[in-house]
Amino acid sequence: MKTVRTAAVLAALLAAASPARAEPAAVDLTKWKVPDLESLPPDERGQLVRYGRDLVVETYKHIGPEVADASKRFAGNNLACQSCHREGGTVPFSMSYVGVTSVFPQYRAREDAISTTEDRVNGCMERSMAGRTLPLDSREMKAFVAYMEFLSQGVPRDAKINGSGVKMVKMPDRMANVGRGAEVYKEQCVACHGDNGQGVRNGKAGDALGYQFPPLWGLDSYNQGAGMYRLAMATRFVLHNMPQGTTHEAPMLSLDDAYDVAAFINDQPRPAKANMEADFPNRLKKPADMPFPPYADGFSQAQHKYGPLGPIAAQLKKMQDEAAAKKP
Ligand code: HEC
Ligand code: HEC
Repeated sequence: MKTVRTAAVLAALLAAASPARAEPAAVDLTKWKVPDLESLPPDERGQLVRYGRDLVVETYKHIGPEVADASKRFAGNNLACQSCHREGGTVPFSMSYVGVTSVFPQYRAREDAISTTEDRVNGCMERSMAGRTLPLDSREMKAFVAYMEFLSQGVPRDAKINGSGVKMVKMPDRMANVGRGAEVYKEQCVACHGDNGQGVRNGKAGDALGYQFPPLWGLDSYNQGAGMYRLAMATRFVLHNMPQGTTHEAPMLSLDDAYDVAAFINDQPRPAKANMEADFPNRLKKPADMPFPPYADGFSQAQHKYGPLGPIAAQLKKMQDEAAAKKP
């Protein structure tokens, strides 16, 4: 089943990559009008898309660890997808969902394989949501994908998208200072995210109402396999999205503060993820900020976790170039 699907996807990708194809279209999410959900009729598809939106906004209420129906407890924590994918996944440089279904399936280095939108949703289910995968034929999975398809309407296949993922910025050329990060946390984050990173609940534990301000560490947070557990990823997210109210155009923190506070947050306890050595099986494609061995680059685990990342990235680039030169 899996192989058949992968083969079909591969064929589609090869076709898409054929030289006859024109340059990919460019889309700028910072100037994009996100389609309005209210414009959808209340038919079957409209309902599925709306359920997808609800799942993103109030994940904890539908598939969280506290929902009454135990068979629906897919997420392991009470975050919402939009705890990170802000405002229903519509904000540029906050891992926006706009365009996702136009660029997936795509090659992903973490798996060293072609991933579908469904695979990617399940990646966040197992890591950011510290839970388990949704079955492909579940109404929930179909709703997530339908919602992302709805948001992606008008974005051409394989478009080059400005505003997806997190905004790139070069990391400081030094080891992160966790002690300074703790100070930044006290000044800039504690009011919402709490003394112990526990956040502020909407209701009380057990009522499946999630958080007003999500936790940043502890048992109800993302696990160590999550993208947010990586130094550069977390720095870029925090710089352009936090404290709440920040936009990517006008960061409130300095880059150095974002870097140190990101290291501080990820120095705190959180759920583990098994089998981390399996990520990025092609070690030359393993990002500099992956905090789990094995590595091909010879740098310590501590440097991958706390930086400086520049020398690691330079070494990886050198090794990639050497490997490419050896190929016939
Ligand atoms: C703790 C933060 C966090 C939460 C919660 C979270 N994600 Fe993510 N998600 C990320 C990060 C970070 C990335 C980018 C990771 C990367 O590129 O490796 C990402 C990437 C994605 C992508 C791919 C986007 C792209 O442009 O390639 C999809 C789809 C996705 N997440 C879906 C979900 C869904 C669905 C949920 C809820 C069930 C969810 N995520 C919850 C942090 C989070
Ligand atoms: C005014 C309240 C507020 C402040 C201050 C604030 N945050 Fe947040 N934070 C939020 C909210 C609300 C979310 C959920 C996303 C959203 O709706 O913007 C969030 C989400 C996050 C997330 C992703 C979700 C998660 O649970 O992991 C991280 C990481 C984060 N904040 C880090 C920080 C850092 C670091 C600071 C300090 C520099 C900070 N925040 C300051 C309100 C705040």
